[in-house]
Amino acid sequence: MLLALKSNPEDVGREAARIVANAVRRNPAVRLGLATGNTTLGMYKELIPLHQHDSLDFSRVSTFNLDEYLGLSADHPRSFRHFMQQNFFSQVNIPPRNIHIPNGSIKSDYQQYCASYEQDIRSAGGIDLQILGIGRNGHIGFNEPTSSIGSRTRLKVLSKDTTEDNRKFFAPGEEIPQCAITMGIGTILEAKRILLLATGSSKAAAIAAAIEGPLTASVTASALQLHPDVTFIVDQQAGALLKQQDYYRRVLEMTAILTPDRL
Ligand code: GLP
Repeated sequence: MLLALKSNPEDVGREAARIVANAVRRNPAVRLGLATGNTTLGMYKELIPLHQHDSLDFSRVSTFNLDEYLGLSADHPRSFRHFMQQNFFSQVNIPPRNIHIPNGSIKSDYQQYCASYEQDIRSAGGIDLQILGIGRNGHIGFNEPTSSIGSRTRLKVLSKDTTEDNRKFFAPGEEIPQCAITMGIGTILEAKRILLLATGSSKAAAIAAAIEGPLTASVTASALQLHPDVTFIVDQQAGALLKQQDYYRRVLEMTAILTPDRL
């Protein structure tokens, strides 16, 4: 596990974009797992000019998004598909056929649909680099507390915490979906490398629990402790409750000397 502690949210976005851009340059056909949410916006904002002015080519990149609200069609303004289109896909050159986002408008055969999403990931060769945010309750994707550590893509009922947190994206009085389709923890853990971004004090307890707490389904991000190649990029506020900050700094310094390719 590597942890980069940054001074502010802008630096978190910049560092994440640097890692994604390096992954694309190293392997132009890289398969990215993508996430939505405010925290990821800084990263997308940094990647766009790298494409537009710095020849970062996404033409062979494939993407798989983590999750989507159930009941929202692709063109719904609050759908994650719409979020991705607005904030990233419309401004880079990923071919539409290479873009995969769970379809929130399906109305039956959920299990079959979710199995086919898993199959699409497998057929593409698996995810090379998975981007994650984190919920205040420690969720990754929409894997709410008590999700099975071995879970696969499926329907999840959203917790009250999550629907309240995501209310900010909806108009006052607008109904918030109660369910979502999300990659499972088991699906996420199969990615070769994982990058988790967090900013702001509201994420501090979740970050401390995920990294320094016990491995527990009550904080699904703690399942990342099982993964061999996870990098957390957090700002001062999100990292404020971590007890071993000095150690993480030293690990990063030594990694830069001994195995710089990991960074
Ligand atoms: C949603 C998404 C998560 C994301 C989380 C945090 O619940 N399903 O993938 O990590 O929001 O969002 P934000 O970055 O807006 O705090």
